[in-house]
Amino acid sequence: MTRYFKATVLENTALNKHFRLLTIDAGRSTLNAQCIPAPGQFYMLHSNSTYDPLLKRPFSIFKHEDNSLKFLYRIRGKGTICLSNLRDGDIIEVIGPLGNSYPEPEGDFIAIAGGVGIASLLPLLDICKNTGYLFYGARSKDELVMLSEAGALSKEVFVATDDGSEGRKGVITELLKSFLNNLKSEISNFKLPIYACGPKPMLKELSEIAHASGMKCYVSLEEHMACGVGACLGCVVKTVSGYRRVCKEGPVFDIKDIVWE
Ligand SMILES: Cc1cc2nc3c(=O)[nH]c(=O)nc-3n(C[C@H](O)[C@H](O)[C@H](O)COP(=O)(O)OP(=O)(O)OC[C@H]3O[C@@H](n4cnc5c(N)ncnc54)[C@H](O)[C@@H]3O)c2cc1C
Ligand code: FES
Repeated sequence: MTRYFKATVLENTALNKHFRLLTIDAGRSTLNAQCIPAPGQFYMLHSNSTYDPLLKRPFSIFKHEDNSLKFLYRIRGKGTICLSNLRDGDIIEVIGPLGNSYPEPEGDFIAIAGGVGIASLLPLLDICKNTGYLFYGARSKDELVMLSEAGALSKEVFVATDDGSEGRKGVITELLKSFLNNLKSEISNFKLPIYACGPKPMLKELSEIAHASGMKCYVSLEEHMACGVGACLGCVVKTVSGYRRVCKEGPVFDIKDIVWE
């Protein structure tokens, strides 16, 4: 069940220059049994103090505890700058939880996060504690936010940064390929489901890895959104069975269904 509601900002903490963690009080009646967010679902958020930008912006649920919801966000443009200016006690407009969620893994799994994609995957690592191999890539060490929190929930963590300031230098998909190749030589027919969220080039590369290895792979797509509730068709992606709305049929898709353009 999806709800529109107003929420009070409890905290809006700067993690570094680019990233913040927003905590809002959604109220007891909002987070009842039908409205508990599942990993992969998202909310549309809008700072109530301004109509510029007019449209709400989508953010993955990062954590929820009692009446509070937490969102990890990267400051990019007008919408996220407005969010970054929110102070304790401010009121924001919220719609959610929205979209589908990651199918729950039945055993060990691989999670691959590019940058702020960790926001979408951390709740999955949390509900399946110590069963996920986390592959986490970012531009540099500063952008590996929540690495220790995610690491504490994972079976093993592999890190890559573009500039080599932490972990392996290069893209995270290269690290995943070496991991899979090593395992293939030790265990024949090694297959784990992959869960991914990150920039499009990472997901495209992953679709080739998943295809070549025959491993099941679920991706959360981060398209631009206008309404967030399936009405405007502003977020469609091409799939093998036609166009699909990321906000309604997604954001989580089986990677083999996506037509990469
Ligand atoms: C389902 C879903 C979940 C999301 N979860 C999170 C989250 O948990 N944390 C988070 O920080 N972000 C998340 N995003 C992305 C977030 O919604 C955008 O960063 C935000 O809408 C940007 O708004 P803005 O007004 O600040 O930037 P805009 O002014 O709209 O854009 C500023 C710049 O950022 C680029 N940009 C905007 N959106 C994206 C995007 N999705 N990917 C890459 N570049 C983009 C634009 O092309 C432009 O260059 C999610 C997106 C979706 C669809
Ligand atoms: S954002 Fe309007 S249909 Fe998806």
